[in-house]
Amino acid sequence: MTRRLTIFLSALLLAGSMFAQNNPSQSNAVDEAGHQWWQNAVFYEIYPRSFADSNNDGIGDLNGIDQHLDYLRWLGVDAVWISPMFPSPQVDFGYDVSDYENVDPKYGTLADMDKLVADGKSHDIKFILDFVVNHTSDKHPWFIESESSRNNPKRDWYIWRDGKNGGPPNNWTSTFGGSAWKFDPKTNQYYYHFFYAEQPDLNWRNPAVADAMYGTEAWWYKRGIAGFRLDAVDTLFEDPELKDNPVIDHKQNAFGDIEQKRIYNDKLPEVHDVLKGLRKVADQYNAVLIGETWTDNIKELEEYYGGGKEIQMPMDFMVTMVNKLSPPEFRKRIGAVEASSGWPVFVLSNHDIVRYVDRYGNGTNKDQVAKLLSAMYLTLRGTPIMYYGEEIGMENNDPKRREDVQDPIGRRGWPKEKGRDGERTPMQWNTSTNAGFCTVKPWNAVDPKYKTYNVETEKADPNSVLNWYHHVLELRHTNRALLDGDYVALNESDANVLSYLRSYKGQNVLVVLNMSSSPQKTKFDLASHGIKGTTGSTLLSTAKANQVDVNDISLEPYGVWIGEVK
Ligand code: NOJ
Ligand code: CA
Repeated sequence: MTRRLTIFLSALLLAGSMFAQNNPSQSNAVDEAGHQWWQNAVFYEIYPRSFADSNNDGIGDLNGIDQHLDYLRWLGVDAVWISPMFPSPQVDFGYDVSDYENVDPKYGTLADMDKLVADGKSHDIKFILDFVVNHTSDKHPWFIESESSRNNPKRDWYIWRDGKNGGPPNNWTSTFGGSAWKFDPKTNQYYYHFFYAEQPDLNWRNPAVADAMYGTEAWWYKRGIAGFRLDAVDTLFEDPELKDNPVIDHKQNAFGDIEQKRIYNDKLPEVHDVLKGLRKVADQYNAVLIGETWTDNIKELEEYYGGGKEIQMPMDFMVTMVNKLSPPEFRKRIGAVEASSGWPVFVLSNHDIVRYVDRYGNGTNKDQVAKLLSAMYLTLRGTPIMYYGEEIGMENNDPKRREDVQDPIGRRGWPKEKGRDGERTPMQWNTSTNAGFCTVKPWNAVDPKYKTYNVETEKADPNSVLNWYHHVLELRHTNRALLDGDYVALNESDANVLSYLRSYKGQNVLVVLNMSSSPQKTKFDLASHGIKGTTGSTLLSTAKANQVDVNDISLEPYGVWIGEVK
């Protein structure tokens, strides 16, 4: 792949040399448009249990990832975010960490992690870890100490309170069902857990907690880790007076709890102090912070950037969850993040939400939806974060019976909430047993469609979803307008076709996406954007066309045309 020429901005040289002393493996080069490495990178989330199983025990592992670095490089991945691979009782499949500075033996060893980072370097691939900052496992030594007695020095590392009127301290519910408080008979107090009871919330108001977490952050940067995805940052703080949340009348969720407005335990302003603290550490190592930021509006999202002092890459789930092929809706959401001061971060799927081909497709058009929406989010201004397997069109494979469910929320909320097993199935590598993931029983069922949807078969098919992704990513990495260009929305009243221009120093790429199930014709007045010609040369298209007349573009249902206009 063509790599981009970079120049060093003199203003960054001093910081760069300081950084080099800490970690010579990372540099803070910026490109001529002033973009940093994470702005030009394509990120790819790997759920380590499910990506590749090197020792055939049915569970994916770090060496499995290592064995597929050539594939990731070929695909066009520049940075991999690994979901938690730390030691964990695995109640929440790794999001219950019992040691932040080690690797769970199921996934390998610290030496394997070091090797992965080193091999990644030779493939030009960086690694980002998943920092579970809101809570630990209840088996973390900190919590074991904390629960041992009311006087233990670590007692205040978590949120312990007396009960009220014979029950928990207030009405807060866990997002995973039931009260957010668990009673401990030994010390006669309750502790707070926004997620499972096995995930007690840390008390970030205690400076010792903050110090320990900042220390861990730096510890991994020194090992060559290039950043973190920050888990559940919205819920780091709770109202000190523990006021009851208002309830939403008569609205019951899948767990049978009455829904509440989480005004006292979600997105409290103090969160921003912690994010500034984490960022300060990150900046010493040229590292990036990605946020799991469930925002309700653009103002909230904008706050997470903190004017350049907090998260560089808060994920914009408002785009992720448009959930219908609606150009007006996408235009509105993309326009909103474009108008904000932050760098956009686009995600379509992850380990917590149903895969996008199922959310946007009608069951018969999944390949078309995969090509259409990947053409969108991989050509927008901003950084895309892919989810493993989307590039081969992997679908959700949800459990059919409650007894098959592994994700505890699926057992608790069945049948309304089926849990997240369906979007966490083993990666499909080839047509052999279990899609080439392992030959023993895999930890989670392989999607039966793997005979058609797998890396090997799709690599050989020029029209596959995989080859489409490969081509879009190649274009994204080599085309200056796509890398550095502005975003200009076009034909904004078109209800069927989403179109935009990406322009950089006189180079213009036009992206035209038919989001409807019928053929569409469209035309563009590009003269008002300083483009005189009306002939577009095709860069990538779902139809066979080398050139188009921009006054008369025809698109088949869900068709895509991307081309250069002068
Ligand atoms: C968000 C993670 O993405 C999810 O998988 C996990 O269950 C919760 N945070 C709790 O850590
Ligand atoms: Ca394994």
